[in-house]
Amino acid sequence: MTKFIAKSLLLFIASASSLAGPADSGTDQLRYLEESRSLAKEFMQALGGTLKKQLKAGGAESAISICKHIAPAMAAEYSKDGRVVKRVSLKNRNPLIGLPDEWERQVLEDFDRDYHDGKPAAEIEKIAIVQDPDGRWFRYMKAIPTQPMCLQCHGTPDDMPEGVKALLAKEYPEDKATGYHAGEIRGAISIKRRM
Ligand code: HEC
Repeated sequence: MTKFIAKSLLLFIASASSLAGPADSGTDQLRYLEESRSLAKEFMQALGGTLKKQLKAGGAESAISICKHIAPAMAAEYSKDGRVVKRVSLKNRNPLIGLPDEWERQVLEDFDRDYHDGKPAAEIEKIAIVQDPDGRWFRYMKAIPTQPMCLQCHGTPDDMPEGVKALLAKEYPEDKATGYHAGEIRGAISIKRRM
């Protein structure tokens, strides 16, 4: 695994240096990578902790509001200093903020392929420098694995309490985010930073 990351990092730096302008060195890119990794970890731990607490205290129906209000608020809070932080999925629940852009969609498809090839979801990530019409961005994505506790709201109909199904149907009529099994990739945290 470490070998895999080291290899993709080397490839990344090699391809990035051919794209790099005078202002962004390999050192900057390594710094952005470290920063993105630690932000993703901090974000997922904070959100997971809050969710777990609410599931325990009030049950799954009550925890829907954590996902609806707290998760986007946290993402907005982390989106500062030139960074944009989002959670995206190929089968998104939120039709607006959960929808991947074109680059994210391709990466999510690659992530699913890696997972089906036997790579544990928790170890899957991607880094790139992307030139968009609005500028050059350092981009980072990390797969979010489905844990057993997620199945109450993202599992098969048998995993989900009736009250949760009813509330989700009301609040998210276009919901695509069900039918998952533990271990599968639920989506990804996506961080982009202007270079
Ligand atoms: C109590 C119900 C509930 C539980 C438990 C839950 N989620 Fe969600 N999840 C939601 C709701 C509601 C949304 C939509 C939030 C919004 O409006 O942005 C959501 C959205 C998401 C998104 C954003 C992409 C999308 O589909 O719109 C991801 C990623 C996600 N959940 C992952 C997880 C993971 C991983 C777990 C387990 C650690 C989990 N969820 C547990 C209810 C839940």
